[in-house]
Amino acid sequence: MIRLVNLPKIVDDRGNLSLIEGDNQIPFEIERVYWIYDVPGGEFRGSHAFKETDEFIVAISGSFDVILHDGKEEKKFYLNRSYYGLYVPKLTWRRLENFSTNSLALVLASKRYDEKEYIRDFNQFLNNI
Ligand code: TYD
Repeated sequence: MIRLVNLPKIVDDRGNLSLIEGDNQIPFEIERVYWIYDVPGGEFRGSHAFKETDEFIVAISGSFDVILHDGKEEKKFYLNRSYYGLYVPKLTWRRLENFSTNSLALVLASKRYDEKEYIRDFNQFLNNI
């Protein structure tokens, strides 16, 4: 189920520390990590769904919107802190937009990259749901 997940935040005078462990804070083992950065103003990323891949998205720096569609309804999440993230299960249509300057989107994925995992046509996605 789509959900925001609070991450551990270890507060320290020397600076804060947060963390993610596979199969602990997030319900899958981490098979891949990628990040999106240097996004020009007004640009968007995504606009696709994955057949089997679960993901977890964190705004490590800056902010952006994640717009999700589960086949029934659309929901918008504004991410702007590195101590929580958004769990995006497989078969969720997703789009990232409204990136602030110098924002950094970290994405943890349950599978390695495979182009065949992508559903890039929204109507096809709705038919798959
Ligand atoms: P894509 O997932 O379409 O980007 P976004 O959803 O952020 O708009 O990927 C963009 C390109 O990068 C595409 O050609 C595939 C490649 N890519 C990889 O080779 N490995 C990966 O792990 C990812 C996420 C993308």
